[in-house]
Amino acid sequence: MSEKILIAGATGFVGSRLVQALCRRGYNPTCLVRSRAGIKGLPPDIAYSVVEADLLDRQSLQHALEGIGFAYYLVHSMRSHGVFRSSDFADRDRRAAENFVRAAEKHGVERIVYLGGLGELGDRLSKHLAGRQEVAGILSSRKPKLTELRAANIMGAGGAPFEMLRYLVERLPVMIAPRWIDTRCQPIDIRDAIQYLIGCFTEESTAGARFDIGGAQIVTYREMIRIYAGVRGLKRIVLSVPVLTPRLASLWVALISPVPAGMVSALIEGLKNEVVCSENRIRKIIGIPLTPMDISIRIALKETDRGPGKFRAGNRPVS
Ligand SMILES: NC(=O)c1ccc[n+]([C@@H]2O[C@H](COP(=O)([O-])OP(=O)(O)OC[C@H]3O[C@@H](n4cnc5c(N)ncnc54)[C@H](OP(=O)(O)O)[C@@H]3O)[C@@H](O)[C@H]2O)c1
Repeated sequence: MSEKILIAGATGFVGSRLVQALCRRGYNPTCLVRSRAGIKGLPPDIAYSVVEADLLDRQSLQHALEGIGFAYYLVHSMRSHGVFRSSDFADRDRRAAENFVRAAEKHGVERIVYLGGLGELGDRLSKHLAGRQEVAGILSSRKPKLTELRAANIMGAGGAPFEMLRYLVERLPVMIAPRWIDTRCQPIDIRDAIQYLIGCFTEESTAGARFDIGGAQIVTYREMIRIYAGVRGLKRIVLSVPVLTPRLASLWVALISPVPAGMVSALIEGLKNEVVCSENRIRKIIGIPLTPMDISIRIALKETDRGPGKFRAGNRPVS
């Protein structure tokens, strides 16, 4: 395919891995980044182009999408969320998506693939999960055809869900957790998610459609802890209490993990919502073997030792 591919969010956990995977397949993607400094984690031996733009700054987007036919949207603003105020990451996400899709339409981008979140609307959805769905609505509101992939937690070294799990289980022999510990979810391995993202580029039939993507197992968060502890040979006790506010839970998770407190609080609020695939149509179009969770954890732990499994440090200032 000769089409020019752009990745918005190329410095992120998912985006940086997608850049590498596309490069390994012979594509030369364009990374849309706020600052070139952010891409220093990418290996030096791969070929990609870089365009600097901030999605909250329309002016900077004026030429960023020139000549692009296909774009990935892997952006969210939760890193700049604060735990002590109900900060407006949802508003920033909305504005970023609007600016992006306008620019995409103006430059004749044909397709956008967006990685959003699972969770059923109306299910008293958390701000974060509802925001992910709102972004999908915005991205599909103009000419480019949107493919929306909806995922629960994506498991891989350096990703917020895995890092929160890792620090919790490694550091706490006894955990006191709220009721959400028994909510069901369907985590997916980062490599499987990347294969689906690339599959959407090669499979034209995914244009204009929405798909749920999930891993091999549906588990509760309690079971996830047990599987991680099993892989590491650790004995862990999890006690659940009826009341523990998301804010309080976020504070102590943020204390023991490298994930910024605001991001932890947005994610923890979402743990009350079940995030399980409601359909599996994607598997007929992009048939990949799904990675079992214990294997996923083993690979992530190896990557943590070798790098690239470092959580990106630093909160961005609120813009
Ligand atoms: N990780 C998961 O478990 C998971 C699960 C389900 C869905 N998803 C979805 O996957 C996507 C990527 O998530 P992730 O985990 O890779 O997030 P991440 O590591 O936090 O990366 C977020 C990316 O967004 C970029 N960004 C934020 N604001 C921007 C702006 N104003 N202009 C340009 N770029 C901006 C960041 O750039 P900077 O480097 O400049 O900050 C970064 O590259 C999101 O849509 C998320 O909802 C993730």
